[in-house]
Amino acid sequence: MLLRLDRALSEFTALPRSEIRKKIRSGAVQVNGSAVQNAALHVDTVSDRLLLDNEPVRCGPLYLMLNKPRGVVSATRSPGERTVLDLVPPSLRRKNLFPAGRLDKDTVGFLLLTDDGAFAHAILSPKRHVPKTYLVRAEGTPREGFAAAFREGMALSGGERCRPAELNILTAGEGLLEARVVLHEGMYHQIKRMFAEFGCTVIYLKREKMGGLALDESLAEGECRILETEEIQRILPPETEGAQKP
Ligand code: URA
Repeated sequence: MLLRLDRALSEFTALPRSEIRKKIRSGAVQVNGSAVQNAALHVDTVSDRLLLDNEPVRCGPLYLMLNKPRGVVSATRSPGERTVLDLVPPSLRRKNLFPAGRLDKDTVGFLLLTDDGAFAHAILSPKRHVPKTYLVRAEGTPREGFAAAFREGMALSGGERCRPAELNILTAGEGLLEARVVLHEGMYHQIKRMFAEFGCTVIYLKREKMGGLALDESLAEGECRILETEEIQRILPPETEGAQKP
């Protein structure tokens, strides 16, 4: 895609236009190895190599895997609170980066951050059935019918009906339960509400996987990294009809 240099830097960094112009004027921007001081120069965002302050500028959509810690909100801004975007290092920030879906403030694990709206929409749409896998620890002893309700799709007290979900109980006893749950949708507080329907209180919730891509356990809580094309395709295979191919 051909874009003016200042426009390209504005799309693919988090710097304001005024700052970008200053950077260009000062010689801090290179295109294919040469400093360029003309903001109106057209660059090819696919084939040209852009450097800003000697750091490569990654052009094209960005997909980040974040290992979300407790206590941060899945939003682009939330006055008085830390958001998941505050955890992104400055070199990876972009104006249009947002979390693709939400994890509760106290939920940890895999959160995708991207600036690709079509991809985010596709992986969140219940029609696409992108499974999301969670590790759940809960207090309480579920009343009868727990497993069947997951299998068949349970009704929540708010009136919503869940799609069938997978429940695999890993350990149970002495009023504590550990389970792995796979959902194909994402209603508000869904797992907490599903467990609450059966008399259990979720005390720990971690998203381990989106589609076929597991959380990279080498990421400490609060860290993120860029996903490669092959990893993005494990979240949503490219042959899925109508899905945007990253
Ligand atoms: N279900 C929940 O209850 N909370 C989350 O954050 C994700 C799924």
